[in-house]
Amino acid sequence: MSKIKKVNSYWELGCHVADIVEHTLTLPEPKLILPTGSTPIGLYNELVNRQLDWSNVTTFNLDEYIINPNHPQSYHSFMKKHLFDRIDIYPNNCNFPDRNTQAYEDIIPEIDLCILGIGSNGHIAFNEPGSSFDSVTRVVDLDKQTIEDNSRFFDSIDDVHKQAITMGLKTIMKSKKIVLIANGVHKYKILNVAMNGGVTEKVPASILQEHNNVEVYYCD
Ligand code: PGA
Repeated sequence: MSKIKKVNSYWELGCHVADIVEHTLTLPEPKLILPTGSTPIGLYNELVNRQLDWSNVTTFNLDEYIINPNHPQSYHSFMKKHLFDRIDIYPNNCNFPDRNTQAYEDIIPEIDLCILGIGSNGHIAFNEPGSSFDSVTRVVDLDKQTIEDNSRFFDSIDDVHKQAITMGLKTIMKSKKIVLIANGVHKYKILNVAMNGGVTEKVPASILQEHNNVEVYYCD
């Protein structure tokens, strides 16, 4: 059986994963790792619509550019716009990596649910191809492919940030449950390589094959 669960629409993708988040939010003090990018926007809209209780939830974002957090292109701003300003979460419970990478690594507790997207080069968070499976939170140079992919969010490719801070692959793998989401036919090839090909640092997402509680949702 394929490890990739294909759903019929982007809306359904959001609903399936929102069901998993909603279930996790029934825990006493849920701890989540959250992604940015275009793929989770439908999920975040669905979560907002469900009017859940986020007062006991703590979140940790996967990554952030090296940028002023108030900058409109920062992932802080993204998360506020698409989720945090629309739910009843305490701002102090929303954590992002910064230059003090070791401090971030140290505060990440046992995570109940980690939601990930996948880059067209197989990255998860900003763990680009060649990242060590033992990597932890650190500053990284972005891959040429990632800079090109992300240029759609900026006026020009020169404006795309070339460095970021990311959780490591080892950090991500410690989560109790991981859900990977991908939207669009352009993602299918790399998703298939990651989930059904060899486990290799050349394809960072392939490490997920070694986790015992991963779900992968895809829509084209
Ligand atoms: P996307 O990015 O959701 O914008 O496709 C995913 C990623 O690069 O992790």
